[in-house]
Amino acid sequence: MKKMKAAVVGYGGMGGWHVEHLLKSDVAELAGVYDIKPERNELAESRGIHAYASYEELLADKSVELITVAIPNDDHESVVVAALNAGKNVICEKPVALSMESLNRMIAAAEKNGVHFSTHQNRRWDVDFLAMKQIHDSGEIGKVINIESRVHGSRGIPSDWRGEKEHGGGMLYDWGIHLIDQVLMIFGWDVKSVYCVCDHITNKEVDDGFRLELVFGNGQRALIELGTYNFIAMPRFYMRAEKGTALITDWREEAQVVKCKHWHENDVLPVKTAAGLTKTMAPRDEVTTDTYRVAKPKSDVHDYYRHFIAAIRGEREQDVTYDQMRTDLAIILAAFKSAETGLPVEL
Ligand SMILES: NC(=O)c1ccc[n+]([C@@H]2O[C@H](COP(=O)([O-])OP(=O)(O)OC[C@H]3O[C@@H](n4cnc5c(N)ncnc54)[C@H](O)[C@@H]3O)[C@@H](O)[C@H]2O)c1
Repeated sequence: MKKMKAAVVGYGGMGGWHVEHLLKSDVAELAGVYDIKPERNELAESRGIHAYASYEELLADKSVELITVAIPNDDHESVVVAALNAGKNVICEKPVALSMESLNRMIAAAEKNGVHFSTHQNRRWDVDFLAMKQIHDSGEIGKVINIESRVHGSRGIPSDWRGEKEHGGGMLYDWGIHLIDQVLMIFGWDVKSVYCVCDHITNKEVDDGFRLELVFGNGQRALIELGTYNFIAMPRFYMRAEKGTALITDWREEAQVVKCKHWHENDVLPVKTAAGLTKTMAPRDEVTTDTYRVAKPKSDVHDYYRHFIAAIRGEREQDVTYDQMRTDLAIILAAFKSAETGLPVEL
C-alpha cells in the first residue's frame, strides 16, 4: 500500500524522534518539518529534510495527510486545531491539552472535519509495562490487589520549558500522563478517587516529582510515583496479587514472579531479629512457592503509527480513544486539585 505523507511540527527533541521514526517507517513517508525557530528549520535542511517556510505553507500542501505536533504543551491546541481544520489527520504529543475544555475543542474540530486525531501514548509499547499487563491479564498469580509504578531519577527537572508553569511544565504532565495511562491500560478506566502529593524540591512553580494514589471501582489500587531527586531508585514495578507477587527492578530487567503453591506450611522456622523471633515474617521456600522470570514481551513502537494510519484508512479503531484521552487528563487535573487541597478527589 502507498505510504501516507506526514509532516512534523516542532523540530526539537521529540520532533527529531518522530522525524527519525518516519524516515524508517513502512507506512508513512516524511514530507518535511516546520519549526517556529528558523535555526531549527536550517538544521533540518542541512540534514536533507525539507523544511516548510511557514505553517500555512505546510497546511496548504495537499499531499500531506498526517501532521505530528511536537511542540511545548501550552501551544498544542492552536496548532492542532489549525491542522484539523485544514483537513489533516493529527497526532499530538502528550499531554495533549492542559484543560478539559481545550481537549474537547480539539476533539470537536476533528469530528467536524471528519479526520482522525490521537495523542502519542508511545509508552504503551514499553516492555516493562507490557510484562506487568501480561502477568495481570493471565491471572497466573490470581486477582491483583495493587500495583506500584515508579520512575526514579536523580537529575532534577529539565531546565527548559518543562520547569515553567505557563508552558505546561512539571512532571505530572511530562511523565504522569504516561504512567497513569499504563496503569489504566492494566486495571481499566473506572477510577473512583485520586490522591496526590507533589514535590517542589528545586522548583516552586511546577512539580518536580509526585506521589499519586488511585482507587478503582472494583477496589484495586495503584500507586504512581515519579522522582527526579532519587539517588537510589526503588523498583520500576511491584504488583501484589492473591496468589503471588511480581516485580521489575529496572526497565532493563525481566519481571520476577513468586507464586504461592501452598498457603499453609508446617514447622515454619522463625526468623531471629535483633529484638526477638518472628514466624509471621519468616521467608518462604520452594516447598510452598514457585519463583520464575517472565521473558520480555515482544514490542515494536512503530505499531503506533501503523495502527493510527490503519485507523485513518478505516481498517481498525484507533488505539488511543477520545474517552481514554479524556480520562487520562481528568486524572491529571484531579491530581493537581488533590495536591492543592491535600484531600482525595472523587471522580
Ligand atoms: N512521548 C514522549 O515520549 C515524549 C518525550 C519527550 C517530549 N514529548 C512531548 O513532545 C512535545 C515537545 O517536547 P520536546 O522535548 O521536543 O521540546 P523541545 O523544546 O525540545 O522542542 C520543541 C520545538 O518546538 C518548536 N516550537 C515551539 N512552538 C512552535 C510552534 N508554534 N510551531 C512550530 N514549532 C514550534 C520549538 O522551536 C522547538 O524546536 C511536548 O509536548 C512534550 O511533552 C513526548
